[in-house]
Amino acid sequence: MISRNIRTQFIDFFQKKGHQVVHSSPVIPHHDPTLLFINAGMNQFKDVFLGKAKRNYSSATSSQKCIRVGGKHNDLENVGHTSRHLTFFEMLGNFSFGNYFKKEAIFFAWHVTLDIFGFDPHRLFATVLETDDETYELWKPYLPENRIIRMGEKDNFWAMGETGPCGPCSELYYDKGPNFGEAPSPANDPGGKRYLEFWNLVFIEFNRDTTGEFSPLMKKCVDTGAGLERIVEIKMNTSSVFETDILRSLISSIEHISNLKYEADPNLKPAFHVVADHLRCLGFAIADGVIPSNVERGYVLRKVLRRAIRYGRMLGIDRPFLGELLPALNVQMGTDFPELTKSLAQAQEIITSEEENFLRTLKRGGNLLATIIDYSKKTGEISGDDAFKLKDTYGLPIDEILLLASDADLKVDLHGYEKLEIEAKARSRGARKIEADKVSHSFAATYLDAFDPVSFVGYSALDLDQTQVNVLFAEKEKVSSLKKGEKGALVLNTTPFYAEQGGQVGDKGIIEKEGFIFQVEDTQSPYPGVVLHYGKVIQGEIRGGDLVSAHVDVRTREKTSNNHTATHLLHYALRHILGEHVKQAGSIVEPERLRFDFSHHKPVTDDEMAQIEDLVNGMIRRNQPVTINEMSYNEASKNGDILQFFGEKYGAKVRVVSAIESKELCGGTHTSSTGSIGYFRMIREGSVAAGIRRIEAVSGHEAELYARERERLLHQLGNILGAKPAHLLTRGEKLLQEQKELQKEVVRLHKEVLVIELESLKEQIKTIAGIPTLAHIVSVPPKEMKEIADCLMERESSLLLLLASVDQNKCSILVRVSPDLISKGLKANELIFQITSVVEGRGGGKSDQAQGGGIRPDKLSEAILKVEPWIQSLINPS
Ligand code: SER
Repeated sequence: MISRNIRTQFIDFFQKKGHQVVHSSPVIPHHDPTLLFINAGMNQFKDVFLGKAKRNYSSATSSQKCIRVGGKHNDLENVGHTSRHLTFFEMLGNFSFGNYFKKEAIFFAWHVTLDIFGFDPHRLFATVLETDDETYELWKPYLPENRIIRMGEKDNFWAMGETGPCGPCSELYYDKGPNFGEAPSPANDPGGKRYLEFWNLVFIEFNRDTTGEFSPLMKKCVDTGAGLERIVEIKMNTSSVFETDILRSLISSIEHISNLKYEADPNLKPAFHVVADHLRCLGFAIADGVIPSNVERGYVLRKVLRRAIRYGRMLGIDRPFLGELLPALNVQMGTDFPELTKSLAQAQEIITSEEENFLRTLKRGGNLLATIIDYSKKTGEISGDDAFKLKDTYGLPIDEILLLASDADLKVDLHGYEKLEIEAKARSRGARKIEADKVSHSFAATYLDAFDPVSFVGYSALDLDQTQVNVLFAEKEKVSSLKKGEKGALVLNTTPFYAEQGGQVGDKGIIEKEGFIFQVEDTQSPYPGVVLHYGKVIQGEIRGGDLVSAHVDVRTREKTSNNHTATHLLHYALRHILGEHVKQAGSIVEPERLRFDFSHHKPVTDDEMAQIEDLVNGMIRRNQPVTINEMSYNEASKNGDILQFFGEKYGAKVRVVSAIESKELCGGTHTSSTGSIGYFRMIREGSVAAGIRRIEAVSGHEAELYARERERLLHQLGNILGAKPAHLLTRGEKLLQEQKELQKEVVRLHKEVLVIELESLKEQIKTIAGIPTLAHIVSVPPKEMKEIADCLMERESSLLLLLASVDQNKCSILVRVSPDLISKGLKANELIFQITSVVEGRGGGKSDQAQGGGIRPDKLSEAILKVEPWIQSLINPS
C-alpha cells in the first residue's frame, strides 16, 4: 500500500538522520485546554517548543493522527467541496528543538521530496513569508527564483491556536499541470486547484500569549508537517485525495452499500467524499475515547456524524450505515492503528445508536418543518428561533431550510438565527473555557522556566520531613506569602501528595512547619511537572523558600488506594464474567466510592452482578500482594495481557500494576495486598451513553456501612409491616393481594353508588313539550359525570340529558340527545352553545353529544333554566 510505504520511508529517513521516532499521540489533547482535537504533529511537543518541558532528544519525527474540526484550524465545511480538505488526516513531520533550523529543514524537505516521494523537481514551488529574505535565499540552491514565491502572513505565518508556539513558514507546492487551471503560480491559485500544498515547514520562533503579544522563544525550533494523503495523491497521480488508496477503498465500500457508482455522477462525488472522510474522523475519535454528546468535543463529533448521515441520504441511504462501514476502515487502517481494531465493536455500537437517534429526529424535523412553514405563512417569515431549532435539534442544514423556505415563499430571520448560533458555539466552547480557567494559571507555564519539575515521592512515602516551598499563589496570582485564614496553593520541590490523575482524586493532608499549618484540600497537576496543593492556612504564615514538612492524610489515601485496586479487580471481573469486549471508558476513584464506566451493550443482570461481586471478593480474600513493575511503554504494549486505556497518553516509562490475575498500566496509588480492601459491594448499575454502562461500588468500611444500612432498612420495613425480616416477602405478597381485593371492592361499591345516583336522577326526568328531559347539576367530577351519562342513555330509549358539575371556579357541562329526539330537531351541539354562553365559556360537539365548560359556575342554575324555552322554541315554534 502506497500510504504505508510513504509513512515508513519518511520515518526511516529521519530516524537515520538522528531523529527520535515518536508515536502519534491520541487525537484528544492531554494537558492542553486550548485545543479541541490534535490538529498538527507539533501539538504533542508544544511544551518542548516553549521550553517548559524537556526531552532527552533534540529532534524527532512522527506520523500524527490529526482532526481539524472546531477551533482555529477547522476544515469541516470544506470537506466535500474541495479536492484536498479532510477532517481526519495523517501528518508526517520532523521537528527540531533548538537542534537545527531553516537551512537543514529545507535540505531535508528537498531530499525527502525527491528521493522518498519521488516528485519531479521541475514541478515544485516554495512559498516564503514576504519579509523572510533568509528563507528565500536558502531555497535558491534548489529552485529557480520564479518558483520561490513570496506571500503574506495569511499563508506564511503558522500558529497552532490563538495562543502558543508560532512562526513564519515556508510551504512546498506541487504543480499538477495545466489540466487543473491556468494559474502561473500558487499565488494566483487561491482555491488550490492546480498547485497542491503538501508540506509546511514552520520556523517556530515565538510564543503568542492571551493578549496577542509575541515573545521570542529561547531556542529556535522547526516544526514541519506533510499531509500523507496529499503526497499519496501526487504519487498516484489522482485528481483528489479521495482517490488515494485508503480513501478510495472506503468509497468502494460506500458504493457497495448505496448501490451507486462513484464515477457515475459528478454531482454525487462530494457525498462520497464527505462520508469517507467523516467515517475516518469518527472511527479515530471514538477509538481515542470521544463519545458524541451535547458538549465540547462530543458536540463537535456529533456534528460530524450528522453531516455524514445527511450526505449519506444524498446517496439514497436512509438507514443507519456508518457503523456498518466501520469494519472497512478497520481493514484499511487497523494494522497500523490497532486502537481501531480494539474499539471496533464499541464504536460500531455508539455510531449506530447515534445514527438511529438522528434519523428519528430528522423524521420529526421534517414534520416540524411542515408545521413551521404552515404557521409562518401569517408573518411571511420563519423566525430565528424556529430556524435554529430545526438546525440544532433536528440537524436540518440552514441551506436546506433556506431552500425549503423559499419554495414556500417565506423568508428566514437569519439575524435571529445567527445570534442563537453564536450562543450555541459559545456553549460548545464553554466546557473548554472552564477547564482553561482552571489551568491557565500563568505560573504553571512559567514554573518550569525557573524550577525543575516537582518530584513526586508519594508512591512509597506519605510523610516528608523536609521539602521546600518554591512558589505560592492566592487566587491566580503569585504571592510572596500566605497568612492565617488565606486560601491558596503551594508548589513544593518534592511532594508525597498525589495529584488528581487517571480518575484518582488528589490527596488531602497537611503541610506544616513550626508555627504554621496549611490544610491541603486538593492536589492538582495542571501541567506535567507542576503540582499544586490547594488549601487554606490554619495557623501562621508561609513564604516562598521556606522549608516545610508534608503529610498526606493516611486514612483517606489508604481508602483511595484500596478503591483503586478494587477498580482493577472489578475491571478484571467484568471482562471475565461479561466478556472481553468490556473496555474501560472512564473511572473515578475516591476514598468513599469508585465509579467505573465500560463498554457493554445491555444492562448487567442481577445474576451477573452477583457473579462479579463474588469474583472480586474472592480475589480480595486470596490476599495476594499487589506488585508494581516499571517498564518501557513499548514492552508493555506488546504484552497482550496488560490492559491499557485507549486514549490515555502514556510516557516512555509506564507502571504495570498486577493484582491477582489483573494487569493494568496505571499511574495511580494502590494497596500493598488485596486483603486490605476488606469487602466489595456494587451499589448501582446503569447506562450513561449508548453502549456504555456505569457501575458504582464501595469497599472496606463503606461497604460494611452499605450492608448495614440495607439491613437497617429491612428491619424498619419489618417493624412497619409487622413481620420479621425472614417473613417480609410473604407478608408483602399478602398485603399486595389484600390491596388488590380491596381495590376490586372499591370498584364494586362505586358502581353501586352510581346505580343509586342513577335511580334518583331517573326520578327527576320531566317531560317538556312531550320531550323526556333531565337537566341537573350533579356532585361528581366530570369523569364520573360522563359515566353516569353513558349509563342513563343506555337505559333510556328517549331522553334529552344535560348534566353539569362544578369544580372550584369552573363548571363542566355535557349534553346527550337520543336519536329519536335528534330527528325532532333537538341537537346537543346547539343546546351546549346556549348553555355555555350563559356561564361565559365554550362548548362544541355533534348532534348526539356535546360538551363544554365555563368560568361562571354561579350562573349554572340560570343557564339550566334555558333548556325549557329552547325545547319549546323548537317543538312548538310560535
Ligand atoms: N504545524 C504545521 C502545520 O500544521 C506544520 O506541521 O501546518
